[in-house]
Amino acid sequence: MGKKKQIKYAAAFELPNIIQPRTLDFKSFILDSSFDASYFGNGNPVTVELGCGKGEFTVGLARRYPDRNFIGVDVKSDRMMAGASIAMTEGLANVCFVRLRIECIAAFFPPHFFSEGYITFPDPHESMENGKRRLTSRRFLGLYSQVFAPGSTLHLKTDSAALYEFSRESIPGHGFKVLQHTDDLHGTDAEGTDITSILTTYEKRYLAVGKTIKYIRFVL
Ligand SMILES: C[S@@+](CC[C@H](N)C(=O)[O-])C[C@H]1O[C@@H](n2cnc3c(N)ncnc32)[C@H](O)[C@@H]1O
Repeated sequence: MGKKKQIKYAAAFELPNIIQPRTLDFKSFILDSSFDASYFGNGNPVTVELGCGKGEFTVGLARRYPDRNFIGVDVKSDRMMAGASIAMTEGLANVCFVRLRIECIAAFFPPHFFSEGYITFPDPHESMENGKRRLTSRRFLGLYSQVFAPGSTLHLKTDSAALYEFSRESIPGHGFKVLQHTDDLHGTDAEGTDITSILTTYEKRYLAVGKTIKYIRFVL
């Protein structure tokens, strides 16, 4: 690991709104601890962003909805540092970040804990034939059905046509139903909604080079 990254990882431990294992041993982290459901000190509904990167989307939502709670999950705390620092500076008490592999989500969070989820520009793993590492594969949908409450809405945003087509086929079933899909989100009349007006780092990058954003909204 480069020196700059090491410094950022170390700094992440200083932020009280990043929850993470001391070492990269996720297995003992989830065996020794679990998410404290009373963390936010209120019973407000909790939205999660899976693979949140720098956490722009999570922080953007937290600013708009002070009466809801938001958690960004990513395996890289050096990225989440960006969003966590902004949340601290702005005094946003309704947001935190958890360093975790999404594969471990059902072992760390209480059952049916989340009421909404965003999967923003996940790695498309386009070269993988069976797609089992994709965050909308059956394996991951099975985990989501454990941690999301029935009736929860999930949103997928991607620049990848392959992931979009894969997800349109994989999502229906397992208790999930697709409510909306488009291969050009910013070309639809959804402008001005949360999903179109809060842009992540990757989304800005893709829009700058003229890529269209694909979107699927689905419900458990
Ligand atoms: C392409 S980036 C997108 C980041 C952010 N959502 C955005 O739109 O700017 C994908 C993110 O997912 C995270 N990620 C990928 N696989 C993961 C996994 N299995 N568990 C947790 N995070 C993961 C990566 O660390 C990375 O930050």
